[in-house]
Amino acid sequence: MRLDKLLAHATGLTRSMAARAIRAGEVRVDGHVLRDPATHVEPSARIEHDHRVLEAPRARYFMVNKPSGYVCANRDTRHRTVFQLLDTPNPAGLNVAGRLDIDATGLVLITDDGNWLHRVTAPRYRHPKRYRATLASPLTSEAQHRLRAGIRLKDEAKACAPVELAQLSPAEWRITLTEGRYHQVKRMFAAVGNHVLALHREAIGPIVLDPDLAPGAARPLHDEEVAAFGPGATSV
Ligand code: URA
Repeated sequence: MRLDKLLAHATGLTRSMAARAIRAGEVRVDGHVLRDPATHVEPSARIEHDHRVLEAPRARYFMVNKPSGYVCANRDTRHRTVFQLLDTPNPAGLNVAGRLDIDATGLVLITDDGNWLHRVTAPRYRHPKRYRATLASPLTSEAQHRLRAGIRLKDEAKACAPVELAQLSPAEWRITLTEGRYHQVKRMFAAVGNHVLALHREAIGPIVLDPDLAPGAARPLHDEEVAAFGPGATSV
């Protein structure tokens, strides 16, 4: 949220009075004086005005059990978006932490906390993402070996990182990867001559899709789930 808006909200000042206070150096964000009223401030920031810490709006975190047919975009003129599944009056500022394709289902995380979103999605953290894929053909042992070793995708110079694979039924496989390339699961199986008929995300890092959440339902994350993405948490 903009700093002047947040200050006005928390103090009852008008927006222009808040902007003046900021320009005058009366406001500190995480200990630093910021003089630009348009500065974007994370909901988790500590804001002081006149040496008093302001009550900032709490950051919001949700998990959604995405059904097929919804897009993970903030706006779309043709399709429904995952934000329409949230029971929240003000979706402004919310973003998806790791998209799913329109036809994929399962766990989607949504937040307005930019720092947290970064910790969930930044490639350097390598949080494992666990999917259930239904395949069109049996997966040969040679294909399994190539996927586990780290396969090279069409038109990409760098091979994918090795994945974990486990068979769940004749056509269903659990695949866990630590990257987030474009359409990665579908392209990996395509690279071994197969085709993904259905794709469902079960977990992102330490957060597992709540089994009580029906397709199309959403709920706020529990505090422990939010905290689980602290620096260094990587287990599914
Ligand atoms: N890989 C895909 O191919 N699609 C997704 O939605 C997620 C991972």
